[in-house]
Amino acid sequence: MGAMHRVEQFWRHSAGRIQRVESDRALEVLGPNLYPAFATLPRNERRHGLDVLATVDRLETRPERLLRQAALLHDLGKARSGMSVLDRSQAVFLAAVSPAVLRAYLRLRPGFARRLARYRDHAAVGAQHLRQLGAAELAGIVSEHHARRPAHPLTVRLQLADERN
Ligand SMILES: [Fe+2]
Ligand SMILES: [Fe+2]
Repeated sequence: MGAMHRVEQFWRHSAGRIQRVESDRALEVLGPNLYPAFATLPRNERRHGLDVLATVDRLETRPERLLRQAALLHDLGKARSGMSVLDRSQAVFLAAVSPAVLRAYLRLRPGFARRLARYRDHAAVGAQHLRQLGAAELAGIVSEHHARRPAHPLTVRLQLADERN
């Protein structure tokens, strides 16, 4: 995929609106304990979760509630990285141009490099948050959602849906 195409895709996702019926669906899937963690995410993060949920619902006949929850919340940790939308757009662009260009840029901007490192930790950060909310099994799935060989069978199905968004 070309660098400009990646940036376009990124901005398309950042700008997406959210319909009332989608927020209602998120509340129904997550319940009152987990919904606030979703509702307080930036809009582009909520948009991504809802898109992954829609893909899960399209791919699966009767998806488990846990899988649908993971679809909505798997990238929860990204919002805590301190990366602005502009930062992320830049990182996506530079990484798509070449890893060497990205490395050179990170040496010039240590603050950006720190935020990017935290952003790349988003699976662990999100899992920790969910554990604090008492959602241990969901936390397990979120913690491994970028793993090559995830332990939980639902994680593989989450990855399939995430890849399409
Ligand atoms: Fe992720
Ligand atoms: Fe994702």
